[in-house]
Amino acid sequence: MLGNFSYHNPTKLYFGEDSLQYLRNELNHYGKNILLVYGGGSIKKNGLYNEIITILNDCGKNIAEISGVMPNPTLEKLYEGIKIAREHNADFILAVGGGSVCDYSKALSVSVHCEDDPWEKYYLRFEEPECQIVPVGCVLTMAGTGSEMNGGAVITNHEAKLKIGHVFGEDVMPKFSVLNPKYTLSLPKYQMCAGIYDIMNHICEQYFSGEDDNTSDYISEGLMRSLIHASRIANENPQDYEARSNIMWTATWALNTLVSRGKSTDWMVHMLGQSVGAYTDATHGMTLAAVSLPYYRHIMPYGLKKFVRFAKEVWNVCGKNKSDEQIAEEGLKALENWMQELGLVMHISELGATPDMIEGIADGTIILNGGYKTLTRDEVVQILKESL
Ligand code: NZQ
Ligand code: ZN
Repeated sequence: MLGNFSYHNPTKLYFGEDSLQYLRNELNHYGKNILLVYGGGSIKKNGLYNEIITILNDCGKNIAEISGVMPNPTLEKLYEGIKIAREHNADFILAVGGGSVCDYSKALSVSVHCEDDPWEKYYLRFEEPECQIVPVGCVLTMAGTGSEMNGGAVITNHEAKLKIGHVFGEDVMPKFSVLNPKYTLSLPKYQMCAGIYDIMNHICEQYFSGEDDNTSDYISEGLMRSLIHASRIANENPQDYEARSNIMWTATWALNTLVSRGKSTDWMVHMLGQSVGAYTDATHGMTLAAVSLPYYRHIMPYGLKKFVRFAKEVWNVCGKNKSDEQIAEEGLKALENWMQELGLVMHISELGATPDMIEGIADGTIILNGGYKTLTRDEVVQILKESL
């Protein structure tokens, strides 16, 4: 049943090769003190940094920078950013980078004026912000997380060995995001493919829940078909602008709060993958890839009808003279073949996980109950062992 919901997404998008020209106008709505946040230097290599600085200078902004935001941004880095943002009296945070930079900026936006410790308040107690929120805008350079149009902000606490996401509300979502597929062309292929799997899994996390066929499921199937098609072109030729455009646009739709309407949503692959990430600091999309097949094969009997539908509608599996179990398994096999085609990491051991970490990774896995089967801790351990 679709049930009752409200829907509103406040993030304004500018998409395409010319989209950066709108940044100037957007920035005029905010105060002078801009905090420019970026990662380890890819934007300096591909020239985007200079373009952004020119625009900020033309707008007469006072710029402070937070650089070196790492993949899987850490709590320590957040504390460092809070200090810089306070000293600069930041009016606006401009995130230029991938999901990590964007997530980090959102976490910062709710922490600058927060009197509590942000880790305890937002990531352990899951409270909502009560303080003033510094607005965030984003210029995206990597397609995958959907962070450009959602309220998610994932932070890693290495000391506690926990990687936790808080999905904040509309006030924390970027005010605008500039999506120029051209900026993604300099991504290493490993990151491109990790991003593609992240997108696929975001859709699956929402699709594999609920009994009913609803509009979200049809939209999700369309998104998955588009992604598979574009990914094959991009895998052959990463410089194909059209394919990279479609991947970027699909990433945004996969996790911009729309297709989850009317769905209970699963998110267990992410809970497993994030805990693997807390132990290994591995690339997000690859942690998901490495736990996915053991997880989906494990829950398939509990959601058989949807797995049959997935096989037929997404992978064109022919159902003639086959049992539902056979059809569903062929669907997962098709998923596996596609993952191998993209060169995704299929085992957590390849990411640095070792057998002695399994219990700890299981402890750090938050068990959710929106999917077809609420896992027990023993099942979590079993799936992690099968993922090794
Ligand atoms: O730091 P730089 O030098 O920019 O290099 C980055 C980084 O090393 C590089 N990169 C990004 N754009 C590039 C580029 N290199 C060359 N050219 C470009 N155009 O790619 C590397 C990975 O970047 P990162 O931002 O870490 O990747 P991604 O976008 O996958 O973000 C991952 C983070 O997002 C979280 C993940 O957990 C992880 O912490 N997630 C956020 C979500 C959300 N907000 O809803 C949902 C996701 O499920 C995910 O959990
Ligand atoms: Zn993800």
